[in-house]
Amino acid sequence: MTEIIKFDHVTKRYGDKIVIDNLNFSIKTGEFITILGTSGSGKTTTLKMINRLIEPSSGAVIFDGSQIDQLDEITLRRRIGYVVQQIGLFPHQIVEENIAIVPKLLNWDKKTIKARVSELLSLIKLPYDQYAKRYPNELSGGQQQRVGVARALAADPSVTLFDEPFGAIDAITRSELQEELLTIHKTYPNKTFVFITHDIYEAFKLGTRVMIMDEGKIAQFDTPEAILKKPANDFVKRLLDTAKNQESLWG
Ligand SMILES: Nc1ncnc2c1ncn2[C@@H]1O[C@H](COP(=O)(O)OP(=O)(O)O)[C@@H](O)[C@H]1O
Ligand SMILES: [Mg+2]
Repeated sequence: MTEIIKFDHVTKRYGDKIVIDNLNFSIKTGEFITILGTSGSGKTTTLKMINRLIEPSSGAVIFDGSQIDQLDEITLRRRIGYVVQQIGLFPHQIVEENIAIVPKLLNWDKKTIKARVSELLSLIKLPYDQYAKRYPNELSGGQQQRVGVARALAADPSVTLFDEPFGAIDAITRSELQEELLTIHKTYPNKTFVFITHDIYEAFKLGTRVMIMDEGKIAQFDTPEAILKKPANDFVKRLLDTAKNQESLWG
């Protein structure tokens, strides 16, 4: 497997405040990385440095062998999909148009776009005939979030970034969406997902490796099994204990 994303001594400061502190890691093609951490630990900043919404103060972010600041915006949009909690579907565009945004920007022909939209809609279990012509407000929150995922995948990006996409979704729908995302990832084994959550169960259920962040640093970055077996430090131990205590609530 090749290395698709690499952080090389990446630091981000705002004034005197260091929010990302000398991060070094790499992600291989096909991994499903979850980033777990408390609020303010630097998860969103890390993710936004991958698609260059935020520039590092020092160090380099490498995407598929190129330094990210050497890539033009079109290449970045095509190769890196992005899903956020606030969904951000365009309310005056139907589902089909929302999904087709990046392919249109890239000047795909109409037939190819329609075929792609149709393929994605069946992947997210919203059949074309029933859903393509609806407006976002004619969908449930979970369905809108599915469309957000389809839109991010539309131009077949090699990496898709997710920033707490299911944070505002009820527990049952959320669990369904997690299963679907795992299925999607299995359907495209050479696609890399990087997924932020502050839900420890979600992180361990989805991630092939889990990156645990604390105060702008990586506390541990390993497989769920390895983290459970051998937490790297007190912070990770406490995090796992919190989850265990919650579990004991249900017996
Ligand atoms: N534009 C900014 N200016 C100053 N501080 C910021 C800015 N953006 C984020 N921060 C700070 O950086 C830290 C990390 O933020 P963020 O990456 O959003 O954390 P997370 O996503 O883990 O909750 C926080 O302390 C936040 O207040
Ligand atoms: Mg965040």
